[in-house]
Amino acid sequence: MSYQFDSRLAFAATIPAFWYFDPAMLAREQEMVFAHTWQLVGRSEQVAAPGDYFTTIIADEPIIVVRGADEKLRALSNVCRHRAGPVAEGAGQRKVLQCSYHGWTYTLDGRLHGTPEFEGVACFDKAENCLPEFRVAEWAGLVFVNLDNECEPLLDVLEDLPSRLLHQDLTAMKFALRKDWYIDCNWKTYVDNYLEGYHIPLVHPGLNRELDYANYRTETRRFYSIQHSPIKPNDHMRLRLSEDPAANETQFFWLFPNLMLNVYPDNYSTNLIVPLGPERTLTIFEWYFRDPESEAVQEKLRRTVEFSDEIQIEDIRICEAVQRNLHSRTYSTGRYSVQRENGVHHFHGLLQASLNLGCP
Ligand code: FES
Ligand SMILES: [Fe+2]
Repeated sequence: MSYQFDSRLAFAATIPAFWYFDPAMLAREQEMVFAHTWQLVGRSEQVAAPGDYFTTIIADEPIIVVRGADEKLRALSNVCRHRAGPVAEGAGQRKVLQCSYHGWTYTLDGRLHGTPEFEGVACFDKAENCLPEFRVAEWAGLVFVNLDNECEPLLDVLEDLPSRLLHQDLTAMKFALRKDWYIDCNWKTYVDNYLEGYHIPLVHPGLNRELDYANYRTETRRFYSIQHSPIKPNDHMRLRLSEDPAANETQFFWLFPNLMLNVYPDNYSTNLIVPLGPERTLTIFEWYFRDPESEAVQEKLRRTVEFSDEIQIEDIRICEAVQRNLHSRTYSTGRYSVQRENGVHHFHGLLQASLNLGCP
């Protein structure tokens, strides 16, 4: 596992090739990275009213996100205190949560309520059998959970990211569509690829016609980076321009370790990267538009998704080819372009720090 990260970009080498396929590495990342970082789990509108809930899994940890009778949002363990049954499944609305194995019930704030046919059990105190609670936070209509109760607050981790959103009020846009992609590569192969525009000219000829590659740049902060590019007007515009020329820029945000936020003049999308195995990854795109039900916006959505799909298919093709090549006997590490790959270097530095120290 040894790898010495060099914070000097011009001297640094990429993380070792075997980190991209070793099952022990993924287990370590789940424990040290995914169990200590804020993970996007859903949207506030899914848990708007008391009793609304949905279930999710972070680093193999089953979770219920539920709005309590007191209107407080909580992230509770979805593991029943009796014999580990599921306390909730899918999503819905409940007054109490009932385990589907033997019917124990819990209040919406996680207190054990009903334990049928359990009289006579010695030294058993319901009050000591609440569902464990994890940290939950909302930002811009998105819900995040962190399994680490000692973690930094979400807004501190985001730093000035909210104020960087050019002319965009994310909360003014509504969820329009979700699309899942299953990819035969390590989650880091996909993230590395996202974090540089270096591959745009060769891998994405269509996108390259829309962006001003010469002025494409990447800035890194503590736990996030932003890639911006002015949109370049052309004869067959596939990205829509805004009436405000200052807003005609794409902003590709990435929050360590696995959340991407693609902000365009007329829409934004999240893309969550979920490791399913050492060489299997799920990416979940969700698009947000102003007034997504209107017919005109539906047509814009269709065209936006079509263009995004084209880019995604091009990325998948190159990521899967790279993933196969990472197994080569001849390749163990590489170097970074100083002009174009500072975002990848930043990611590798955060990863290395987390794997050594637990929480970055
Ligand atoms: S495991 Fe939940 S009631 Fe038995
Ligand atoms: Fe790409």
